[in-house]
Amino acid sequence: MNAAIHVQELVKSYGRTRALDGLDLEVRTGEVFGFIGPNGAGKSTTIRVLMDLLRPDAGTAQVFGKAPAEGGPALRARIGYLPGELAMKGPVRAGDHLQHLAALRGGRGRDRIDALAERFRLDLTRPLRTLSKGNKQKVGVIQAFMHEPELLVLDEPTSGLDPLLQHEFLDLVRERAAAGATVFMSSHVLREVESVADRVAIIRAGRIVDVDSVRGLRERAGQRVALTFAAPPELAAFAGVAELHDARLDGATLSGLLRGAPDALLKAAARHEVVAWSARDRDLEDLFLDVYRLGAAGAETNGGRDAR
Ligand SMILES: Nc1ncnc2c1ncn2[C@@H]1O[C@H](COP(=O)(O)OP(=O)(O)OP(=O)(O)O)[C@@H](O)[C@H]1O
Ligand SMILES: [Mg+2]
Repeated sequence: MNAAIHVQELVKSYGRTRALDGLDLEVRTGEVFGFIGPNGAGKSTTIRVLMDLLRPDAGTAQVFGKAPAEGGPALRARIGYLPGELAMKGPVRAGDHLQHLAALRGGRGRDRIDALAERFRLDLTRPLRTLSKGNKQKVGVIQAFMHEPELLVLDEPTSGLDPLLQHEFLDLVRERAAAGATVFMSSHVLREVESVADRVAIIRAGRIVDVDSVRGLRERAGQRVALTFAAPPELAAFAGVAELHDARLDGATLSGLLRGAPDALLKAAARHEVVAWSARDRDLEDLFLDVYRLGAAGAETNGGRDAR
């Protein structure tokens, strides 16, 4: 499958701040790809390079096989872009603004403005400058989607949208993905990306520290397990269970993080009288919080490090 986005060794500094520090990324055609990381990680910088709003210091970026700087209007026409910071001022009405953008695209998408505005409950007669943050965001979403582009590049698309409209937005992403579009979206919140994304990349300090499918992440996140015995066992009895991490004993209850098959743990437990047990999938959000907390060393801990 061809790559819709291909980024290699991208470096970008603002003065002394190294915003991108050798970033590699590949987004396949037709996939929904989540781009997650903390504030200042370099998400918007990456996206601006893809949109040719910024030129990198080193490295290459390609969108549909073309460098953003060389793709020109023909490449731009295939992309719907939602910036992270929308500058929407002035007395022009939201509807006129969107009509104007459609005209710039040769009229493409003009006939979808009303339906999208209705779907997102946007009053098209309101002047842009009077719109609340969330309503401005709706204008941004509509202009990105209305011409049904092959590639959507969305920088924190749900920011400012209320929960109902966040769902509406995710439905829209699913619809476009089902129609064959590629979606690249940044977010701070794994939970929203989790339900739509095929794959997720985690960016930290200008580098990708992890890329995996949502399912792969979930498997690696593991399960929190707890076993209560009739009498306190020796913790050492479970030392040989390689899949059990962070094992601890509270009275007669053994708990820990299980990554992998439960067989060895169950066999070790079965040598004692088990009176209660529980196992629950660890929240992916916890996994991400670890990544956020980790230092640059996080890059080497992929899959290896124990985590709460
Ligand atoms: N125009 C600029 N001038 C100077 N430094 C900048 C500029 N834009 C970004 N930076 C710095 O580059 C780094 C990456 O910023 P970027 O906006 O790409 O992060 P981000 O991942 O989008 O963060 P957020 O989640 O807050 O949107 C940060 O340290 C930021 O302070
Ligand atoms: Mg940003």
